[in-house]
Amino acid sequence: MPIAWRCVPGDCSSFPGFPFSADFALPSRLPRRSIAYTLTRVAGNIPGNPGRIMLQLDTKNDLRITTAPGLAPYVEAELNDLGHAPTAVHETSVELTGSLRDCMALNLRMRTAISVLYLLKEFPCTGPEDLYTHASTIAWEDIIPPDGYICVDSRGDHPSIDNWMYVNQRVKDAVVDRMQDQVGARPSSGPERHGIVINTYWRNDYCWIYLNTSGGKLSDRGYRRIPFKAPMTETLAAGVVLASGYDGSTPFVNPMCGSGTLAIEAALLAANRAPGLLRSNFGLMHIRGFDEKVWKDLRVESGKQRRKAKPAPIVASDISPEAVSAAKQNAKTAGVDHLIEFHVCDFADTPVPPPPGVVIMNAEYGQRMGDSAELERTYKRIGDFLKKQCQGYVGCIFTGNRELAKRIGLRTSRKLIFWNAKIECRLLKYELYAGTREKSPDTQ
Ligand SMILES: C[S@@+](CC[C@H](N)C(=O)[O-])C[C@H]1O[C@@H](n2cnc3c(N)ncnc32)[C@H](O)[C@@H]1O
Repeated sequence: MPIAWRCVPGDCSSFPGFPFSADFALPSRLPRRSIAYTLTRVAGNIPGNPGRIMLQLDTKNDLRITTAPGLAPYVEAELNDLGHAPTAVHETSVELTGSLRDCMALNLRMRTAISVLYLLKEFPCTGPEDLYTHASTIAWEDIIPPDGYICVDSRGDHPSIDNWMYVNQRVKDAVVDRMQDQVGARPSSGPERHGIVINTYWRNDYCWIYLNTSGGKLSDRGYRRIPFKAPMTETLAAGVVLASGYDGSTPFVNPMCGSGTLAIEAALLAANRAPGLLRSNFGLMHIRGFDEKVWKDLRVESGKQRRKAKPAPIVASDISPEAVSAAKQNAKTAGVDHLIEFHVCDFADTPVPPPPGVVIMNAEYGQRMGDSAELERTYKRIGDFLKKQCQGYVGCIFTGNRELAKRIGLRTSRKLIFWNAKIECRLLKYELYAGTREKSPDTQ
């Protein structure tokens, strides 16, 4: 059965742009179209039921890919590589036009995305009752099975709202009241993201309601069963690997590997493995009429894109035997343990294959673990390691501590800003030519 759902067109009016700010306030085009207008334009009315609109698997609609701060350029680059043309890039999301089939593929293939959102409806919204009324016009009974489970997640900024749980509650009420009315049954609801996930964004008297086709965050790939200490999220690690310029054709060296996230993401990239294949549950699988065959075919197709040739060496090391054991186990779960060479050693003893290559280090930076004076010595030693043992490589240090970074004592070629949880971090890049010049720390 093809995936299909219908929406009731109610407010086809287009409207002028608002004084938008932040992600959900920057219109990609002016005036914005309403979802009802979009559906009318591309899909047309259902014969015999002129008030309702059929949405097919391949019907194009507005999509939004959310991500962490600092990662949107990598989401955009990934989308371009996958043959999409993003329509707008914001701080933590990228907009494009795509179909449900595209959502399926993006959930499987994207490395730096956190969720793939499919727009159900957008509308002007001045208060909770507006929200309830508009949310009630979406034909939820065609999207959610009566015995399904929903989770509503709402965010934004509106003067009438001081508790966003209330917004969750009103959208949930609209869904269950409509389903009770239309089909005499209602889904259960709660905070778990294992079924249908609905995202509401409301800002400046304007609201967007999305179906979150990912469900749980795509950063939870499922391979990191043993996180060890201060691990990076998988999407951040993928972004850092992409930002380093690594493409699998040259060696990748990751001293201080911790739970192995950077090395595992590098191996997944080098082998062109779709990270979504590691997960078994996605929000889109819970849509009423979910087409299992299309999904299975897409999974098989994504699996076929895997590069069979062994990539250049990927080396990961850590001074802690527990870290290396966790990293090995995580790599095994991700199916890339055969692509990574592990060592228990001080970072300075990590075997570095002949250049060119990429070396990335995520040393502790004192916010969550480690001691400052000791870390200053470590960062100085990292600079020496890069300078003496990694000549001909691109060196990358990911750190949240600028003072410590100065101890590296090398001239950066680029500094890129990322966020690790709430900590502003930098990826410092160094071109480690043979005979790299030292730089005085105070001008770092
Ligand atoms: C911030 S954690 C790395 C986290 C990693 N990026 C992840 O996602 O799991 C830093 C790691 O450096 C290791 N480490 C600290 N001092 C070291 C040294 N002298 N040589 C090698 N590894 C060291 C720690 O054991 C720890 O696993």
